Amino acid sequence: MNSYFCTMDRRIIPTSDGTPTLYVPGLGEHYHSIHGARRESEHIFIESALDYFPGDPVRVLEFGFGTGLNALLTLRRAKETGRQIFYHALEKYPLEAGEVEEVCSYFRDLHFEWADLERIHSVPWGRQTVIDPYFSILKEQVDFRETTISGGPYNVIYFDAFAPAVQPDLWSEEVFRKIHSATAPGGVLTTYSVKGSVRRNLQSAGFTVKKIEGPPGKREITRATKDSVE
Ligand SMILES: C[S@@+](CC[C@H](N)C(=O)[O-])C[C@H]1O[C@@H](n2cnc3c(N)ncnc32)[C@H](O)[C@@H]1O
Repeated sequence: MNSYFCTMDRRIIPTSDGTPTLYVPGLGEHYHSIHGARRESEHIFIESALDYFPGDPVRVLEFGFGTGLNALLTLRRAKETGRQIFYHALEKYPLEAGEVEEVCSYFRDLHFEWADLERIHSVPWGRQTVIDPYFSILKEQVDFRETTISGGPYNVIYFDAFAPAVQPDLWSEEVFRKIHSATAPGGVLTTYSVKGSVRRNLQSAGFTVKKIEGPPGKREITRATKDSVE
């Protein structure tokens, strides 16, 4: 077993746009791009997946809840657009209380939606909770590989696992097949990786896969869609 999963050694560091991310020394992995955590999440998940999907209501499924930044930006977009969003986040290793406090304090110093982030973190695991007229959330503490995805079908999927080089079994055809079955026709998945094996596994699982422009520091990202008629 990798030492990260034994020790949970994680360090909170600022990124180029001032928003924080976590660094995991045992894996050599960051939770977000050091070129701007908020900018990266906005580009890959909010603009390239959530905004791309035209429907209302929207059911969002996230792989890797982490700091809650993707959930926070999704809540913000729900308020801006008035679309009704149900958010289902999967996470095996939730942040500890001190880490949540530290992450939230970064956002407080930036005067950016920190009260909403605290609210998202204070929601109990395993219980669907309404936190805004436009946004409800269910955080589930599970392993992606073992869980049966409930609550679907989903319209928007944020696939935000650690890099395929570090955890190849999370980017497998088997995992993507489960996701494809839980995706509604017309649904869209985005992820930061454009690795050949990832795109092939998505395709074998039934998705139509495209490379699209990436955020600062990353030339391209992947968008996969489930065709309306198959
Ligand atoms: C790149 S980070 C996600 C960042 C997150 N979306 C955010 O906004 O902060 C990857 C996440 O996947 C979680 N993870 C790693 N292995 C997992 C597994 N087998 N099942 C579920 N979650 C896992 C990690 O704990 C970490 O929170």
